[in-house]
Amino acid sequence: MFRPPRGMKDLYGIDFRKYDYIVRTAQKVAEKYGYEMISAPIIEHTEVFQRAIGDNTDIASKEMYTFLDKGGDSITLRPEGTAGVIRAIVTNSLTQNLPVRLMYYGEMFRYDRPQKGRYRQFRQLGVEYLGDKSPYTDSITIATASEILNAIGIFDFEILVNSLGDDETREAYIKAIVKYFSRHKNRLSQDSQIRLQKNPLRILDSKDRGDIEICSMAPRIMDYFSKDAGNYFDKVCELLEKYGVKYEVDPFLVRGLDYYSHTAFEFKPTKGEYKDSIGGGGRYDKLLSQFNGPDVSGIGFAFGIERLMLLLDNQKFKGNIRRVAVTPVTDKENDIAFELFKTLHACDIAAEFLHVGNLSKKMKVADRLNCEITLLIGENERANGTVTVKFMNVADEARKTKEVNINEIVGFIKYALERS
Ligand code: HAM
Repeated sequence: MFRPPRGMKDLYGIDFRKYDYIVRTAQKVAEKYGYEMISAPIIEHTEVFQRAIGDNTDIASKEMYTFLDKGGDSITLRPEGTAGVIRAIVTNSLTQNLPVRLMYYGEMFRYDRPQKGRYRQFRQLGVEYLGDKSPYTDSITIATASEILNAIGIFDFEILVNSLGDDETREAYIKAIVKYFSRHKNRLSQDSQIRLQKNPLRILDSKDRGDIEICSMAPRIMDYFSKDAGNYFDKVCELLEKYGVKYEVDPFLVRGLDYYSHTAFEFKPTKGEYKDSIGGGGRYDKLLSQFNGPDVSGIGFAFGIERLMLLLDNQKFKGNIRRVAVTPVTDKENDIAFELFKTLHACDIAAEFLHVGNLSKKMKVADRLNCEITLLIGENERANGTVTVKFMNVADEARKTKEVNINEIVGFIKYALERS
């Protein structure tokens, strides 16, 4: 038996319907906020991600699917969407008309340890907003993300926000945490001891229990904000309140990617078993210039689609597209039933033509397909020029079936479906 590679899943049935619904709903909300779609390649030159995400992050150092292609170039399956979209914006000189607002969705790849909600191939939907650097844009972007969740039908989540400040802030803060973590060096995990040398901020998003305990007493970035960074963050919080967006300040939220400055945020579920982050994002000041683009700041976020899917009720996605089953009782009625099936389709009614097997098998299939109505044509109906309409979900025997003239059946079905 062939199986997909570890951490990768086939997406079909209810799951595909959920995926499709999430993407379409998010797209509608994003359009309202002025976003247009972009689809960048799924693979990029490895350097695109190394530059953007930062060499010493877990993603770039451990989790990337990197290969030499047949021409000997190092290429990487995208672990996230932002780097490729920013590269595309610079390649295509899209910053000539600011602001640029782009939405994307699709497959991402991280060689992580698979578990519930964590896969090696997963899907994200995200947006990037370039230009208009201001707390207004930041609060609008967080509100956009929150509205996307609400439109999808997800209400039980919290928004954690923090600021990574400007260069001046981070320089002072990194000095302070290096001093702090150096004091606890021997108790840090192996990975975090390396982080202490190479990228100390990353210790703050370590998943190691011992590290988490040490981190809880670490200095907080807000105590090192420059005046500008502090004012900027205060204004973002004030605007979120005006927007009616509920949030919590998490002083240790640093996100797992190196490109952030100022506002950073994350979304976490508050109900149910699943507790990990369902999405996150933040502002980045230098990404465009890192790709030799203009000095334009941006902000964006991405949701993990599989994680959103975990929060949706399966019941609502049972799928009920084929609603009417046209069912000849025996083979003798096949042709007349086929004519009726064609007529229903021409009138935009979703129909199934169930002509294989005996009647009981056909009825079972109608049930399995969740058909609400079965149209039966047998010897009597053929003789009378009628169809027997059977309402599959009606228990009351008196209302369960009705014989209708075949010439009136389309109008009858349309009326019945509208009312159901
Ligand atoms: P991220 O936090 O690395 O941010 O990923 C965003 C979301 O993708 C996570 O919150 C999570 O829901 C989902 N995700 C991440 N890894 C996995 C996985 N292995 N399996 C399933 N879902 C996963 C970014 O990727 C940034 N590019 C967001 C951004 C956009 N920042 C600015 N613009």
